[in-house]
Amino acid sequence: MKTSLADAHIINLPKISDPRGNLTFIEGNGRHIPFDIKRAYWIYDVPGGEKRGGHAYRTNEEFIIALSGSFDVVLDDGSQRQTFSLNRSYFGLYVPSMVWRQLENFSTNGVTLILASTQYAPEDYIRDYDDFVKGKAE
Ligand code: TYD
Repeated sequence: MKTSLADAHIINLPKISDPRGNLTFIEGNGRHIPFDIKRAYWIYDVPGGEKRGGHAYRTNEEFIIALSGSFDVVLDDGSQRQTFSLNRSYFGLYVPSMVWRQLENFSTNGVTLILASTQYAPEDYIRDYDDFVKGKAE
């Protein structure tokens, strides 16, 4: 797979500032993020010091948003590693398929929203880092 860290990037979302409270949105069909959304899930109540992720997807692409609180996303394409800090609800991180990702350093009471390009499929996961690196070479 040819994806690399260079394909991952922060995407700024529309922000409608309003004294009554701000509003941000994402539309499907590739309007704001580079895939059609098939699934949304969220991570919350993360105990201090815990990490989530620690895998790659064969085909699934994701867009990760810190809806509240903050955390770091560590991406690794088998040759390079980069950490992105997410801490606002009006931008997120696009993560292509075949990039190893881990979420860590969660603040308390945070909510992480993840939009995905595929429905949940356990066979799409690569959970062994050595298998991931081998897959990158194919
Ligand atoms: P997993 O993706 O391994 O979590 P993380 O990468 O954040 O550590 O998912 C944890 C569990 O939740 C696993 O048993 C599969 C289940 N799950 C679903 O059933 N549907 C989903 O959309 C997701 C993301 C996970």
